[in-house]
Amino acid sequence: MKILIVHGPNLNLLGTREPGVYGKETLAGLNEKLLDRARELGVEIVEAFQSNGEGDLVERIHRARGEADGIVINAGAYTHTSIALRDALLAVSLPFVEVHLSNIYARESFRHHSVLSDLAVGIVSGFGPDSYLFGLEGIVKWLGKKQMDRVTPGRPAGQAT
Ligand code: DQA
Repeated sequence: MKILIVHGPNLNLLGTREPGVYGKETLAGLNEKLLDRARELGVEIVEAFQSNGEGDLVERIHRARGEADGIVINAGAYTHTSIALRDALLAVSLPFVEVHLSNIYARESFRHHSVLSDLAVGIVSGFGPDSYLFGLEGIVKWLGKKQMDRVTPGRPAGQAT
């Protein structure tokens, strides 16, 4: 199973960026944790991609088609604004989990709306770097159930056990 991690704008500054909101973990440290957890789960992270550019993020999502089985994405501020990212996720039709370090619902009202959430398998928000780890576990479990559904056609959808 192959998972793409996507980090949006300003997340390259993790560790120094508003540590009271986003914590002291760096992006490199966070990616290491994700690689460790992926190893434990027996899945591959094809890339942990970060960009501050909306177009670069759109293109990376396009390249995920045929390369990854699912995506864990923190689109940063584009979460609240980017129809282009929404359309890219729709276009590749890959299941994804939306993650946020902070609890976006406990912050300014403009952060309460995500243009991605209704397309997501699930959302994890507010657990700091653990949001990504929970997101990874969530997408891996979700994909595992889907595979089970394919090999066991009579079984009710979404029940792995
Ligand atoms: C964020 C929340 C967004 O509102 C913000 O613009 C970010 C980070 C988070 O991880 O908490 O850049 O996605």
